[in-house]
Amino acid sequence: MIDAVSYHSESGSLELLDQTLLPVEIRKVRCTSEHEVAHAIVSMKVRGAPAIGVAAAYGIALGLASKANQSGDFNSALDAICKLLAATRPTAGNLFWAIDRVKRVVLAAAGGDFIKGADLALKEAHAIKAEDIAMCRRIGEFGATLLKDGETWLTHCNAGALATAGYGTALGVFRAAREQGKNFKIFVDETRPLLQGARLTAWELSQEGFDATLICDNMAGSLIRDDRVQGVVVGADRITSKGFVANKIGTYPLAVLAKYNGVPFYVAAPESTFDMSLSYGDEIKIEERDHNEVRFIGGVQIAPDNMPVYNPAFDVTPPELITAIITDKGIIRPIYGQTIPEIIGRKRPESLS
Ligand code: MRU
Repeated sequence: MIDAVSYHSESGSLELLDQTLLPVEIRKVRCTSEHEVAHAIVSMKVRGAPAIGVAAAYGIALGLASKANQSGDFNSALDAICKLLAATRPTAGNLFWAIDRVKRVVLAAAGGDFIKGADLALKEAHAIKAEDIAMCRRIGEFGATLLKDGETWLTHCNAGALATAGYGTALGVFRAAREQGKNFKIFVDETRPLLQGARLTAWELSQEGFDATLICDNMAGSLIRDDRVQGVVVGADRITSKGFVANKIGTYPLAVLAKYNGVPFYVAAPESTFDMSLSYGDEIKIEERDHNEVRFIGGVQIAPDNMPVYNPAFDVTPPELITAIITDKGIIRPIYGQTIPEIIGRKRPESLS
C-alpha cells in the first residue's frame, strides 16, 4: 500500500511522499517541525483532505516536542501550533477535525508538560492514521456493492491512497471492487490546474495494473453522453449536514452532466469529512490559490504574464445532484433532511482552534 504520510520514530520526523514531483520523481521530504509540516501542506507536497488531517496531527506532535526544552506557556504554545496548521488549507474539513481531536486529547491529559503533550499528540496521530485506513476500507466495501461487473466509471482529481492514510476513498471503491473479483474500467479526469488526476490517480492506478484511461477534463461530457460511463465517483473535502459537498474544482459540472444523462454520481468520504456545524454549501470556505497555477503547466508558461486569473481550488455540489454518499458507516441515499445525521450520528462539538 502507498504510504504517503509516515512517522519515523528513530529520527523523530514525518516523512511525506512529495506529491508535487509525482509521477516523474519519487522523493520523500522530511519534516521535523510544525513549520515544515505547514509548508508541506500549503505547497501540496501532501494533499487530499484526509492525508492533510493526518499530517497536521503529526505536526502538532512535532511542534510540542521541539519546544520541550524551552520555557513558556504550554497552552499558548499549543494554540500557536494549531493555528499555524489550521491556516494552511481552509476547505479541507479533515484538517480542522484532526487538529481539534489532537488538541482536546493533549489539553485533557498533558498537564502543561511539553514532553507528555508531544507523546499524547503522537499517539493520537497514529490512531487517526490507523482509523483512516480502516474507514477507507469500509468505504471501499460499501462502494464496491454499487459497481457492477463490466461497468466503466469516471473519477476526478485524486481521492486515493495518496490523498488519505492509504487505500483511498473513491479509489478505495475500485480497490475493493477488484478484491471482490469484479472487472471494470476507469476513466481518469486530468484535473486542471494541478493535474492531480493525470499525475497522481493515473500513477496510483497504473502502478497497480487497473484498466484506467486518462482523459482531459473537457472530454467527460461527450463520454457520458455517449453511454461510455455507468457511474462517477469522487472524494470530498468537506460535507455539510444537509449534504452539500465541497470537492476539487470541476466536480460540480461532472455532477450536472451525470444528472442530465441519468448516470449515478457518488461521493465517497469518511466520517471525518462531515462538518455537522455547517448546513449549506455557501457556508464552506473555498480556497483560492496562486494565479500562476493557471498561467503555468509543469513550469511552462501557457498564458500572458499579466493575464487576470481566477483560481478557486474547490466547488460545491448540492445534494440533489448526488445519487448517494458512500461513507464508512454505510451508504447515505437519498440525501435530504435527517439522512446524514442519522448515519453519521454525531453533532460536531464546537471547534477549539
Ligand atoms: O487540492 P487537493 O489535491 O488537496 O484536493 C483533493 C480533493 O479534492 C480530493 O478529492 C479530496 O480531498 C478527497 S481525498 C480522499
